[in-house]
Amino acid sequence: ATKMTLSELAARKTAGRKITMVTAYDYPTARLVDKAGLDMILVGDSLGMVVLGYDSTVPVTMEDMLHHIRAVMRGTQRAFVLGDLPFMSYQVSVEQAVGNAGRFIKEGGCDGVKLEGGREVVPQVQGLCRAGIPVCGHIGLTPQTATNLGGFKVQGKDAASASALVEDALALQEAGAFMLVLECVPDILAREISRTLHIPTIGIGAGRECDGQVLVFHDLVGLFDRFTPKFVKRYAQLEEVVVQALQEYGTEVAAGIFPGPEHCFGMKQEEADRFVR
Ligand code: KIV
Ligand code: NA
Repeated sequence: ATKMTLSELAARKTAGRKITMVTAYDYPTARLVDKAGLDMILVGDSLGMVVLGYDSTVPVTMEDMLHHIRAVMRGTQRAFVLGDLPFMSYQVSVEQAVGNAGRFIKEGGCDGVKLEGGREVVPQVQGLCRAGIPVCGHIGLTPQTATNLGGFKVQGKDAASASALVEDALALQEAGAFMLVLECVPDILAREISRTLHIPTIGIGAGRECDGQVLVFHDLVGLFDRFTPKFVKRYAQLEEVVVQALQEYGTEVAAGIFPGPEHCFGMKQEEADRFVR
């Protein structure tokens, strides 16, 4: 398994071959994603909601992220892994952004970072590029600042806000971003941005004309039932499978069926004879 590279990802856009990305937060999931042959893993700050049980991504810390990035890296050989900079780890200053992104690369071991925002984070993106850290932008619905956006809703629905998002996209590309996530925007806006930029766009709730797609792992396999956004497709219903397995285990333990003889350890007969009184 050869490692996915930045030049291969860039070449995909020219070749018209879609880029596949999914989130992963731990070692076993990273192994599954690599086995499936997907191109990229995002260790998203969505882990705050999906695996830590918070109501938003806002409380997620650098330490939370590093803990999960390290686990994902231990399970990944091929996929290109992006670490998602959490709220207030890059907004304060360029120095803060470079320092924290540097920790992701150096202590976490991931291949690049993602941060949310448009023109307002251009200095941070420039600083990261100067430091040699590959950076992916993220515009449209940006969950860390969802309160300012009026909640979790589609962005860029009118001509003025759509044009503003095109300007943001261009500014991020100009600043040096190698990729851009477009979340929850009308498909014609995502198409326009994807055609305008020379860097690949990755959509989530942004139609099929982006250069790639991303979904949250737990949404994709049916392991997160708190809510399911319109843009999610569930490719499996793992919750049913897992709950059924757990119930069966509980029933078999209660009935004395599990463990069976094949799960038990024996003792040599002569030792057993000397031991059992
Ligand atoms: O944290 C995350 O999972 C994300 C994706 C939804 C793009 O940012
Ligand atoms: Na995120």
